[in-house]
Amino acid sequence: MARIPLARPDVTEEMIEAMSQALRDERLVMGESVFKFEEEFARYIGTDHAVSVSSGTDALMLSMLALNIRSREVITTPMSFIATANAVLHAGGAPVFADVLPDGNIDPSEIRPVRETAAVLPVHLYGNPARMDEIVEAAGPKVKVIEDACQAHGASYKGTKCGSFGDAGCFSFYTTKNMTVGGDGGMVTTNDERLAKDVGKLRDCGRISRYEHDVFGFTSRLNTANAAFGRVQLRHLDEWNERRRALARRYSERLRDVLEVKLPPEGSKDIVPVFHLYVVLCGDRDALAKHLAGNGVETAVHYPIPIHLQPAYRDAYGYSRGSYPAAEGLAATALSLPLFPQLEERQVDEVCELIIEHYGGRR
Ligand SMILES: Cc1ncc(COP(=O)(O)O)c(C=O)c1O
Repeated sequence: MARIPLARPDVTEEMIEAMSQALRDERLVMGESVFKFEEEFARYIGTDHAVSVSSGTDALMLSMLALNIRSREVITTPMSFIATANAVLHAGGAPVFADVLPDGNIDPSEIRPVRETAAVLPVHLYGNPARMDEIVEAAGPKVKVIEDACQAHGASYKGTKCGSFGDAGCFSFYTTKNMTVGGDGGMVTTNDERLAKDVGKLRDCGRISRYEHDVFGFTSRLNTANAAFGRVQLRHLDEWNERRRALARRYSERLRDVLEVKLPPEGSKDIVPVFHLYVVLCGDRDALAKHLAGNGVETAVHYPIPIHLQPAYRDAYGYSRGSYPAAEGLAATALSLPLFPQLEERQVDEVCELIIEHYGGRR
């Protein structure tokens, strides 16, 4: 294991105890903690409803099934985890891509809905909010907006939390995310009561009553013990996000004069990121990663292959290099540095010193 890991989930006695208590006292599936977690998460995001599911991928897929995008197109970004586009396919739709801005988020001016467009699916990449007002406007009144907020728990744009702009917001609680449930999990947030009901039904085998099923549903529930764990994590989320922002500021201050490295957007009064990842751009990304790895610092690349160039998408749709140049440029240069709330300032300083050393001490 690296001396300075990329990410590390916080697992405390309080979380383990909450989980054990749920296992002892509640139904293992659809116990009381599930509904309490949903209520608390909806309140936190600022939506009327939140429906828990078993992963971020299922949050996306079930939202799109409930919004009935079947046989139509969904405009999304090629600069994301592959699950974003896969979920469109699993819901029976066709993903089409729009290129990205320099910050990696979908470029609103590239969103051009046509008659076949059912929805737009922006991603708040690395926890940095996408330009939701422009995206909603580009989508227009007839096209649904689904936010992939899997990396953006608590981020906000012009005073509104990510996950509450569109018809549905989709979150992942995978273990490296800003909050986890102690395993896989996800959540759909929405102000649409009908959609909340439909997602709630789809995740639970299509049930309308114990023995009656009126749609072809899935087993995609969040386990009670994981919900209990997530409730405790949610209470720490704001403090953790604040810590992530402080560490990101420290990285940016120390790396400001390293001209070879382009720093991520810092945020502003209107744009409050949560730094799920701290991603720098550099021309010799692989050499820098190697230098850091050689000194015990774990890094990662999010994402080295944009979705359209993944073999499955190349084979199915015939994409080739050059289709989305901005995304391809980021994929070639992005490097994620260690960032998690328990990371220490001196560790950030050490990573920065190693980066400065790599570039020959120039700053
Ligand atoms: C942007 C994005 N979308 C979707 C997902 C899928 O979430 P999960 O792994 O919980 O299925 C993830 C995380 O893994 C993600 O980062």
